[in-house]
Amino acid sequence: ASATKANSKLMGFSAVPVSTDDSIVVPEGYNAQVLIRWGDGLFPTSPKFDPTGNAPSSHQEVQFGDNNDGMTFFPLSNDRGVLAVNNEYCNNEYLFSHQGKSMTADDVKKSQAAHGISIFEVKRTTNNNWQLVVDSKYNRRITANTEMTITGPAAGQPDMRTSADKNGKKALGTFGNCANGFTPWGTYLTCEENFNGYFGTKSDIKITKEQKRYGLGKEDSGYGWSLHDERFDVAKNPNEANRHGWIVEIDPMDPTSTPMKRTAMGRFKHENVAVVINKDGHIVAYMGDDERGEHLYRFVSKNKYVKGNDAANRQLLEEGTVFVAKFSADDGKIGGTGQWMELTHGKNGLTKENGFPNQEYIHMYTRLAATQVGATTMDRPEWIAVHPNQDYVFCTLTNNKNRGVKEGQPVGGPNPREANNYGQILRWRQVNDDHAHPTFAWDLYVMAGNPEVHKGTLYAGSDNINNDNMFNSPDGLGFDADGRMWIQTDGKYSNKGDYAGMGNNSMLCGDPKTGEIRRFLTGPIACEITGLTFSPDYKTMFIGVQHPGEEREPSHWPDGGNSTPRSSLVMITKTDGGVIGS
Ligand code: FEO
Ligand code: CA
Ligand code: CA
Ligand code: CA
Repeated sequence: ASATKANSKLMGFSAVPVSTDDSIVVPEGYNAQVLIRWGDGLFPTSPKFDPTGNAPSSHQEVQFGDNNDGMTFFPLSNDRGVLAVNNEYCNNEYLFSHQGKSMTADDVKKSQAAHGISIFEVKRTTNNNWQLVVDSKYNRRITANTEMTITGPAAGQPDMRTSADKNGKKALGTFGNCANGFTPWGTYLTCEENFNGYFGTKSDIKITKEQKRYGLGKEDSGYGWSLHDERFDVAKNPNEANRHGWIVEIDPMDPTSTPMKRTAMGRFKHENVAVVINKDGHIVAYMGDDERGEHLYRFVSKNKYVKGNDAANRQLLEEGTVFVAKFSADDGKIGGTGQWMELTHGKNGLTKENGFPNQEYIHMYTRLAATQVGATTMDRPEWIAVHPNQDYVFCTLTNNKNRGVKEGQPVGGPNPREANNYGQILRWRQVNDDHAHPTFAWDLYVMAGNPEVHKGTLYAGSDNINNDNMFNSPDGLGFDADGRMWIQTDGKYSNKGDYAGMGNNSMLCGDPKTGEIRRFLTGPIACEITGLTFSPDYKTMFIGVQHPGEEREPSHWPDGGNSTPRSSLVMITKTDGGVIGS
C-alpha cells in the first residue's frame, strides 16, 4: 500500500484529530446519536435501568444486554428494520454493586442474562435516525440460558453429551458473542469467542490436551458462573464446554425460532464470519480464531445456493468442508502466496495414527487439526471482510505480544514483527476470484505503527501510516456498498509511550485501492469501537461503543455527569442526508 495524500475520491469527509475526551467525535457535517444503551428496556413492561448494580436478574432478562459488539440490520421496509446485536460479555465493576466479588445465585443469572443477543425492531424518525419499537413482536432476548439445537457432524457425538442432555443435541445458551455475520437468506450469525472463560471448578481436575488447547482449566475469567451453576463446573460437567465455541445461526424474523449451532463450521474462538456466494454457487465463509498464534479458516458448503429457495438455503451451513490457511514466508518479504489446507479425515495427516479418530473429532477440536496440517500461526485474526466486488478479502490481525517470543510463532510472512503490539491488516485475493480455490496471493494492506516513536523501523508502520492517522490494534472491519473500508480499533488508549499520539479507540476509513486511511470517529474514555451495520440506503451507520470506562477508568459516557458508563449502540448520520463517508 502507498499513497498517503488526502486524495481518495471515495472519502468525502475531513479527518478528525485524535481525542482523549469522554465523547464521540465525528467529522464536520456528521452527527452521532445513541440508539440504545446497556440496560434499556426492550419490552413495554421492562423495568428501568438501575445504576446501583443491585437490580435482580429478572430486570436484565428483559433489557438490552451489556457490551454490544457485532450486529446486523435486517430491513422490514424503507422505514422499519430489525437489529440483531451481540452482547459479548459483562463488566462486573458496573453490573454489580459488589463488582462481582461476592456472587449470589441470582447474580450469576443476571450475568448470564447480560450476555447473548438482543433483537429488536427500529423505525426511522427524522434526519435518518431510528428509534426502538418497544412493543414490536420481533423483540427478543437470547441469553446464556436460551435453548439451542446442535446441528451438523458434532451433534450427538459422545463428547457433546452431558448429564442434562444425554443425546448431545440440545445446548443451552450462547456467550462470548463477539462479532457476527449474516447470510444471503436473511439469518444472523453470532460467533462464540472466549467461551472458555466461563468455565471453572474448585475440584482437582486433570486437563486433557483438547481442554488445554481451548484454554479450559480450573480458573474462569472472573465471571463466577460455576459457583452457582453446575453446568459451568468443568469437573462436574466436562463436556459442557464442547457445546460452545461455535457459530450460531438465528432467524431474527421469528422470535419463536430455535437458534442453530453450526458444528460443520468448526470449533474455535470465533471472531466473526464473512459469507459470500461463490461464483460456482457454493457458500464460502471466512472465519478468524482470535487468540495469539491461532489460525485463519474457511468453510465451503457442500451444496449450492439456490436463489429463491431459502428453505433449502437454510440447510447450507449444515454440511461442508473446513480449511485452514498456510502462508508463504520468504525471508523478509511481505507478500506471497497461500494455500487452504483441507481439514478432512484421512487427508493431510489427519489420521487415526496421528490422533484424529474421525471427522467429527476434527469439527470439535478444529485447532488441533489445524496444527497437524501445518497452518500458519497468526497475530490474532479478528474480523474478516470481503470487498463488495468479491475480489479482495481483508482480515485484521490485531496484535500479538507472543510473536517471535513463544515457540511455534516465528516472525515472517503475514506476521512480520516480533512482539507485535500494533497489529496489521492482511489482504488476499483468491486465484480467479474463486473463493473455493485452494490458492491465493496475499500482502498487507497496512501495518499499524507509530512513525513518531519508531522512525525507520517496522514499528513505524507501513507507508500509509502517518502522524495524523496512526492507531493500534485494528479489530472491527467492514465495507459499505461503495467499497469504503471501515476499521475499528480495540487497542491501548494510554496515549503514552508506544501509543503516544493515538488517543482513544477510534474508527477509521480506508480506501482499499489507494491505501489511504483517514480517522472518521473517536470514542469516549476506555472504550473500544466495535460492530457496524447500515440502513439499506447507507444513510445511517450503526456502530457499537463497548466498555466505556472499563476497569473504572473515568468515563461517564453516554449520559455524562456522575452517571454509570454504559456500552451503547450509536447512529451516525450526515447533516445533508447523504451516504455516510461520501
Ligand atoms: Fe471479542 Fe476478538 O474480540
Ligand atoms: Ca473483536
Ligand atoms: Ca480485540
Ligand atoms: Ca471487545
